Amino acid sequence: MKHFLKETDFTRQQVSEVFALARELKAQRGRKTSQVLAQQTWAMIFSKSSTRTRVSFEVGIHELGGNPLFLNKNDIQLGRGETIEDTAKVLSRFVHGLVVRTYEHSELERLAAAGSVPVINALTDFLHPCQIYTDAFTAAERWAGAGGDLLASLQGRKIAFLGDTACNMANSWILGANHFGMKISLSGPEGYAPGAEIDALLSQEGFAGGYHFTHDPFEAVKDADIVYTDVWVSMGKEEESKERIRLMAPYSVTGKVFAAAKPDALFMHCLPAHEGEEVTQEVLDHPRCVIFDEAENRLHVQKAIVATLVARS
Ligand code: CP
Ligand code: NVA
Repeated sequence: MKHFLKETDFTRQQVSEVFALARELKAQRGRKTSQVLAQQTWAMIFSKSSTRTRVSFEVGIHELGGNPLFLNKNDIQLGRGETIEDTAKVLSRFVHGLVVRTYEHSELERLAAAGSVPVINALTDFLHPCQIYTDAFTAAERWAGAGGDLLASLQGRKIAFLGDTACNMANSWILGANHFGMKISLSGPEGYAPGAEIDALLSQEGFAGGYHFTHDPFEAVKDADIVYTDVWVSMGKEEESKERIRLMAPYSVTGKVFAAAKPDALFMHCLPAHEGEEVTQEVLDHPRCVIFDEAENRLHVQKAIVATLVARS
């Protein structure tokens, strides 16, 4: 069974194919397109809030001819203590795939191991691979030009990640950058450097030491092609809000910080954004801010991910 739980679950060759298919699906939107999910139902189990991920998967599954079935964790017996394993086995008898947003990454791995249908990571506390594939595609669309090789256009490019450098987006970008042939520099406060879990995964994937970390945001953004940030208070961390906002304030992406990157650098953010915290309005309004292209591309890239998984199953 093939799953998409982390960035490296597709080989580089498959990443190339996913990007190429996403470009094709984007160009075809609104016209008759691939119906690879005809007669299929995909369940979407969400334990956390979502705007982009939920809507782009529901619309995407529908556009591929399938039926998306949204299940809030608290509306099913999983929320009352039914085991992950039993849930996976039961759902596998009904549906053709699972899209899952949860807290512990291990819960996702247990679902994938116990079930018999493909599982897609729609965000865990550890990784958010659908977002990283989309972000990389969004930059590559600009850099590769029409018909150019999307994955190759990322080779050697530098991303700077500022703020909460221990969050799921930072982890996923560390793994994704290494897999896509990019360089990554991260900058955040004391106590929020990338942790042991991502270091262990990097070693396992053959990318040990594949990032640079500094407490100086200007050092991180120097020569960067992408300046990236995420909320300082991820879902589940609300009790730490005050302390996080205090510690991360020096890592806000201001106009001055963005101007210290390459002159043609892109500003990216997975959204939702908190203007005045991790990014200023000046940067959100900047012509090189591509946040809504990233949001739209979730649809095209995830359709390509689903179609690729189905073809491999
Ligand atoms: N970027 C992202 O995953 O957004 P949602 O939380 O709205 O799905
Ligand atoms: N780090 C954020 C990402 C939201 C898409 C969170 O986990 O809440």
